[in-house]
Amino acid sequence: MYPLTRNRRLRTSESIRSLVRETIITPNDFLVPLFVVDGKGIREEIPSMPNYYRYSLDVLSLEVKELWGLGLKSVLLFVKVPEQLKDNKGKEALNPNGLMQRAIKTVKNAVPEMLVMTDVALDPYSKFGHDGIVKNGMILNDETCEVLADMSLSHAEAGANFVAPSDMMDGRILSIREALEDAGFIDTGIMSYSAKYASALYGPFRDALDSAPVDLQNIPKDKKTYQMDPANRDEAIREVEMDIDEGADIVMVKPGICYLDIVREIRNQVEVPVAVYQVSGEYAMIKAASEKGWLDHDAVMMEQMTAIKRAGAHIIASYFAKDVVKLIS
Ligand code: PBG
Repeated sequence: MYPLTRNRRLRTSESIRSLVRETIITPNDFLVPLFVVDGKGIREEIPSMPNYYRYSLDVLSLEVKELWGLGLKSVLLFVKVPEQLKDNKGKEALNPNGLMQRAIKTVKNAVPEMLVMTDVALDPYSKFGHDGIVKNGMILNDETCEVLADMSLSHAEAGANFVAPSDMMDGRILSIREALEDAGFIDTGIMSYSAKYASALYGPFRDALDSAPVDLQNIPKDKKTYQMDPANRDEAIREVEMDIDEGADIVMVKPGICYLDIVREIRNQVEVPVAVYQVSGEYAMIKAASEKGWLDHDAVMMEQMTAIKRAGAHIIASYFAKDVVKLIS
């Protein structure tokens, strides 16, 4: 009771504050998303994601060496697929010599110890920009799961350590787990985007991969029939519990900052590692406001990172990973 207790005593200097600090950000917290394109010598900035780039494989190789040198030991790969290779069923996703498969090998050749996670979903390969096969204005569930399982196998064969299904089809974790087990990939993990919301914060990412849903008649304009309603909380728990039962090793909440109540709820409820994806729109907001001089970039970045970890994230997928690690080292 005051004045016997004065909370400000523990805030009087940086020395005491750092002594009692409950949440510390380290390079071990991060998973680095990387965008890959075909070509040579390419390092192209994504307009809606300042200071974030798409890399061709030769440049990717240098980039992952740099990340490793900074203490960043895990990457999450995404590929930008040329329009002419897109179809409705993601045929190119299964090409053993496709861009993703070559990207996995490139990273492993550059830094064998780098943990490689891969995005598993149809949208970068879909001419409709959807995460599943489209038929009669609907996104087919079970048919899509079959493709996702084949895609996961293909990534495992190329050397991926974890596959990360980001599509939100029902039952895909079980389909993928069974396919991996049957093929002997017993140590290939699954990081499931378990509670992925139909958020408006994915815009810059869809620019980066040219993967937005197309504006065509009889094609859904959004992903609300598979991604979760931002209004729902109990449903996130149900998604997470089902994914764990189906074999998910890590569960994810996405986006980050607006969904930290969900992160804590899940942390309190389950015993597997929880990942949080601080998405492209969150990155863009901080970049844009700080470019205008309205926010202090580094301070806001660190505050948000700390908030994500404090909420319960064991793993943070973030476009700021490199900036953060450079700042704290
Ligand atoms: C697609 C996918 C998306 C993101 C990761 N995987 C976009 C979407 O669902 O439309 C978004 C990531 C970001 O915004 O940073 N399967």
